Amino acid sequence: MRRLFSVFCMMLLAVSISAKTLVVYYSYTNNCHEIVTSLTSLIQADVMRIEPADKTQKYEANNYAIGTALLNAIKAAPNDAASYPAIAPVSITDLSQYENIVIVTPLWWSQMAAIMQTFLFNYGTQMTGKNVALIVSSHSSGISGVVADAERLVKNITWMGDALWINASNHSNRASLIQNWLPTLNFAEKQTTMNKIYITIDGKQTLTATLANNTSAQALMEALKQAPITYEAHDYGNFEKVGPLEQSFPENNENITTEPGDIILYQGSNLCLYYDTNTWTFTSIGKIEGKTQAELKQILKAGQGNITVTLSLINTTGISNVRSNAENDVHYSLNGQRANSPSKGIFIRNGNKVVIK
Ligand SMILES: Cc1cc2nc3c(=O)[nH]c(=O)nc-3n(C[C@H](O)[C@H](O)[C@H](O)COP(=O)(O)O)c2cc1C
Repeated sequence: MRRLFSVFCMMLLAVSISAKTLVVYYSYTNNCHEIVTSLTSLIQADVMRIEPADKTQKYEANNYAIGTALLNAIKAAPNDAASYPAIAPVSITDLSQYENIVIVTPLWWSQMAAIMQTFLFNYGTQMTGKNVALIVSSHSSGISGVVADAERLVKNITWMGDALWINASNHSNRASLIQNWLPTLNFAEKQTTMNKIYITIDGKQTLTATLANNTSAQALMEALKQAPITYEAHDYGNFEKVGPLEQSFPENNENITTEPGDIILYQGSNLCLYYDTNTWTFTSIGKIEGKTQAELKQILKAGQGNITVTLSLINTTGISNVRSNAENDVHYSLNGQRANSPSKGIFIRNGNKVVIK
């Protein structure tokens, strides 16, 4: 009965946290369209594609002459509506229903593609007070000019975080780039993806977990927004791996009979990953997704001594494939911050994932 109740709570969480988000994009050669498809597989959002009024234009024709002319006209008189190329009627004209807006745009000659500029010129004032994020797709050029265009066209908004730049060399890796970018954003309310955390064992295998709907899980989520948590866990009672988090979280204790995959907070500061059953009074934090008991025992190295556990909002699987321009021998945290004196945890060095114990 209690388990049914907690499943009900998780369903309630999934419904109640679906803040209204709009993804608005323009795409000439469909790279941004593919980015939006990856993005909307991770967040719940309405999607609107902006089209030019004249769909026959070939912006790359004559060495990109048409695209350049459109941008030059805007540059010459950015406050004049007549400078902006006409767009087709948009499917959503009332943006008041959205709290979050994600703009996805191509870069043209280091500026925002003219068609998207028209949309923002026409509808930017409706975005006042909203949370806005930006994804820019270019072949290779840096995106600072596009960010400047966005800041000129969309005022009195709150940027949810830094813009995400996707270029030709990492476009095929867009799903994991977006997945790692989303937790760095401050959405008006948590998205469905934001009740997930990742649990990496010994820096090698990453499990996905769904958080419970209680203040303990929320506090853990808030802590993970600041930094991943790494701790050592040992076997206990032939049913769990447990270890100290070295910080305390609020308790919501209840009498629980665990199942394999349950994540439990014990005495406010110890986290248990269950591979078997146990009955005790402690706090449910969530559940590891999609693993059988046998798989969990193998991944958690049941009965085989200590493991290093890293909790994060970023899926570290595939990080070893990410190309990096990072300086040699400099460590970066999973949040992308330079770590001058890295202590224990998972870091990126020379584009590779390293575990410091
Ligand atoms: C008119 C025009 C100008 C462009 N200028 C640049 C540029 O200066 N630098 C760059 O890296 N890519 C440039 N591109 C390439 C696009 O930014 C890139 O292919 C992007 O992924 C296109 O997105 P889309 O497929 O959604 O239209 C340009 C493309 C067009 C059509």
